[in-house]
Amino acid sequence: MSFEDKLKRLSEQERLAQAGGGQDRVAKQHAEGKMTARERVDALLDDGSFEEFDRLKRHRCRDFGMESQQYPGDGVVAGHGKIDGRTAFVFAQDFTIFGGSLSETNAEKICKVMDLAMKVGAPVIGLNDSGGARIQEGVASLAGYADIFLRNVLASGVVPQISAITGPCAGGAVYSPALTDFVVMTRKTSHMFITGPEVIKAVTHETVTKEELGGAMTHNTKSGVAHFAAESEQECIEIIRELLSYLPSNNLDDPPVRPARDRSDRTDDRLNQIVPAESNQPYDIRDVIRFIVDDERFLEVHEHYAPNLVVGFARLMGRPVAFVANQPAYLAGVLDIDASVKGARFVRFCDCFNIPLITLEDVPGFLPGVHQEHAGIIRHGAKLLFAFAEATVPKITVITRKAYGGAYCVMGSKHIRTDINFAWPSAEIAVMGSEGAVNILYRREIQGAPDPQARREDLKQEYQERFASPYVAAERGFIDEVIEPRQTRPKLIRALEMLDTKRETNPRKKHGNIPL
Ligand code: HXC
Repeated sequence: MSFEDKLKRLSEQERLAQAGGGQDRVAKQHAEGKMTARERVDALLDDGSFEEFDRLKRHRCRDFGMESQQYPGDGVVAGHGKIDGRTAFVFAQDFTIFGGSLSETNAEKICKVMDLAMKVGAPVIGLNDSGGARIQEGVASLAGYADIFLRNVLASGVVPQISAITGPCAGGAVYSPALTDFVVMTRKTSHMFITGPEVIKAVTHETVTKEELGGAMTHNTKSGVAHFAAESEQECIEIIRELLSYLPSNNLDDPPVRPARDRSDRTDDRLNQIVPAESNQPYDIRDVIRFIVDDERFLEVHEHYAPNLVVGFARLMGRPVAFVANQPAYLAGVLDIDASVKGARFVRFCDCFNIPLITLEDVPGFLPGVHQEHAGIIRHGAKLLFAFAEATVPKITVITRKAYGGAYCVMGSKHIRTDINFAWPSAEIAVMGSEGAVNILYRREIQGAPDPQARREDLKQEYQERFASPYVAAERGFIDEVIEPRQTRPKLIRALEMLDTKRETNPRKKHGNIPL
């Protein structure tokens, strides 16, 4: 064979690989408002940066007439490229080939990408769109899933792992995305569930649609499985790219610093007005974050889940930081089970990847209630406490208003190794609010007073003046400085600069035992 013929053979193989499952299946994919695997990879990576592996790989299945059905690449597009100039590994399941189902060879391709990502220290992005285990391959396919799960676990805390769900993701297949750090789901076109509506109908007689059971908003609002809901695939790609812009490539790197347009000494008068005079009035903590950070840009994670705790990424003088903030505008910012779990996972992610934590605290306490107690608020709340206490990244807390009870200890208090603790003059730091406190301490005195209501108000006033301020804590050094709210940005920036070389470690151990 001449060299020209050999080149022709190569380009023919490549043409076949590019064709996916054929025109009709590609047209069906587009008609459903979905991109193909290759289109997704191209949209995700910097132009022309994709280097593909195993484009010619074929399955080895000899059953069910599979021998004659061969598609180069076998239903997954895998390789590496650049995102904002940094290396990233990617695999995209190709629904046009056997429904993107996972075969033995298909899993080998994904594992190759994951192994190399861990070796070189670069993130892995999985673009999922699959009918699950390839039925014709039986246990070989299941083995492939387990091989991927193992790598998800080993890569956890070593390189960031992000999953996009852009189609079906069912059965045990859901556990690979669930093991990754962030899950982005596209609205209307993606579903995740262990068993679908038909099985549920047969087993529990419940009727539910696919969307209600495992659509993007279900997993963003109810289960917390997904961290982002994207209106379209394009938005899904944009979320992933922005998310990565805050993250280091691996656990040994620092997050990428960008040149800042905003000023380091910029104060913001709006912050002086933001906390209402009445202690029980709400305000939006996300405004506080936006007024503080560079260009008012805040990427909220888990926006729709447990909104009483806000978490997400922003920059201060170009340096990525993570915010964990009680949200007084939702359930008064109380800590319940969902908020505790959400916060704990986020704090641990940031600690894995050297992202400084800034805690904004306005919390009346943990949520009282029989349901919360019986569902385990004790052990779930302990997760957040554990996560904050074990974190060794730079930690800064700003108490904007309430810091009551156990929640004071949990939300980045000085006592659990927070480096710098600020408080606004509006801070109220106490065992509990004045209403509860005077009822416990002075019940008899109030009942015996000529005007019990007036006496209660006097006592509340007295209690507030003594305890519901930042000054008792500041006198003890639990608060390093009481600051004017408008100064928060420059204060945080200076603290972060100082903490840049922070070195702190935990006692040597195999791993801790977070109360899961
Ligand atoms: C092999 C599959 C497949 C699978 C789909 N296809 N799923 N081939 N193994 N698991 C093929 C179809 O035969 C079809 O081939 C093509 O993909 C597109 O599928 P359609 O059914 O035509 O598409 P659609 O109507 O959009 O429905 C998509 C679907 C459905 C909802 C995903 O295909 C489906 O229910 N598939 C099975 C899902 C499932 O039960 N998987 C196992 C889950 S358990 P042609 O040639 O017609 O294009 C699991 C265990 C993992 O995954 C365990 C890990 C530990």
